[in-house]
Amino acid sequence: MGSVEFRRACGAFATGIAVATTMGRDGKPHGLTVNSFTSVSLHPPLVLVCIAHKAATHGSFSTASSFAINILNTEQEPLSARFASSHPNRFDGVEWSVGEGGAPVLAGALAVLECETREKIEAGDHTMFVGEVRHAACPDGTADQASSAPLVYYRGKYAKLS
Ligand SMILES: Cc1cc2nc3c(=O)[nH]c(=O)nc-3n(C[C@H](O)[C@H](O)[C@H](O)COP(=O)(O)O)c2cc1C
Repeated sequence: MGSVEFRRACGAFATGIAVATTMGRDGKPHGLTVNSFTSVSLHPPLVLVCIAHKAATHGSFSTASSFAINILNTEQEPLSARFASSHPNRFDGVEWSVGEGGAPVLAGALAVLECETREKIEAGDHTMFVGEVRHAACPDGTADQASSAPLVYYRGKYAKLS
């Protein structure tokens, strides 16, 4: 099976987009754009995110005891691009704060899940970080606001729910 077919088939599964964040040992915020986020368990509340070994932020997720999943709204496409780019300081000009569990929380996200890292499972060229959700929040928004609609990723492109 070729990797083109594999990628094309996986791309047919529409996902949301999140920025996974953690605090580095250097006291600086780290984060990257992800669509490999998924919920795993209700009791206890577990989620996972897969991070490539080659990602520069992989080391900080490995050493930290917590991370946050910031689910982006449709107006936050520039943040998705920023956190997938080689920008030297992705948090420059980005509004964020330190969450209850110590991981960076991005302002205006559709939802934020703050997690304690429970398991790190090696799977091919990625590590699956399983986190227990300690705090989950969906900032208020009304259904007709763009900021309450999710940023969607489908077949390699950003999309909107119609
Ligand atoms: C829509 C989208 C989804 C992505 N999902 C993931 C993901 O789930 N896991 C991952 O490791 N990289 C993912 N990436 C790639 C990283 O965001 C990108 O490689 C980033 O530059 C890695 O940053 P770092 O090397 O500074 O850690 C995604 C990129 C985009 C645009």
